[in-house]
Amino acid sequence: MTKGKFITFEGGEGSGKTTQLKLLHAKLQELGYDMAEITKEPGSRHLEFTKEMRDILLFRDFFPEGVNNLAGLALYFADRAYHVAKFIRPNLEAGKTVICDRHSGSTFVYQSLVFNVLPLDQIKEINYAFTGGLCPDLTFFIDVPAEEAMERLKKPRDQRVAVHDIMPQDFHEKLRNGFIQLSETEPNWIRIDGMGSVEQVEERVWEAMQKFLGK
Ligand code: TMP
Repeated sequence: MTKGKFITFEGGEGSGKTTQLKLLHAKLQELGYDMAEITKEPGSRHLEFTKEMRDILLFRDFFPEGVNNLAGLALYFADRAYHVAKFIRPNLEAGKTVICDRHSGSTFVYQSLVFNVLPLDQIKEINYAFTGGLCPDLTFFIDVPAEEAMERLKKPRDQRVAVHDIMPQDFHEKLRNGFIQLSETEPNWIRIDGMGSVEQVEERVWEAMQKFLGK
């Protein structure tokens, strides 16, 4: 890769995307690619402001009616605008490859296709304005069925319980359908079967990555 590429990982709760993006990051680094540190949305750990935003969006009780409303949407966009301006773009411009855990695809699916805060075309327009038109060069959608996602979420995890962690099966099904829809219609999306061992999924991600790299 001669200039910085922007790679995002998307998927439902418990899809295993975070594990997979760490493995891909390590592998690319090992092969000598110039990699920015792993980042995520909401709440990149590289910026104080976005860390606060993550806390507000996922863990605090400011919104008795939940965060999936216009105010919540505006906060996801504030997090993104700042993150793109202060971390993602500068790294890409410096020639680094940026791997981000969730980005625009999550807003399209959660806030539009699942929670209907605004229609998808409107959310896309606002997203375009807030990101200055930045689009991922490649988006991995790690796909697991709703029942599997729910099983994985039952396992004890070393993190606080966030806003969408305890949801009924039909939520996980709607999420999955939303991500599938986007993977079939959006450019640069690749759907990866997230079932099987970590190593098996890693192999699928790597195969797709090599195709992207033209190898
Ligand atoms: P995670 O970092 O553990 O994946 O949690 C992030 C949560 O935020 C997850 O429930 C998805 C949600 N989310 C949205 O609803 N909209 C968005 O635009 C983003 C980036 C995340």
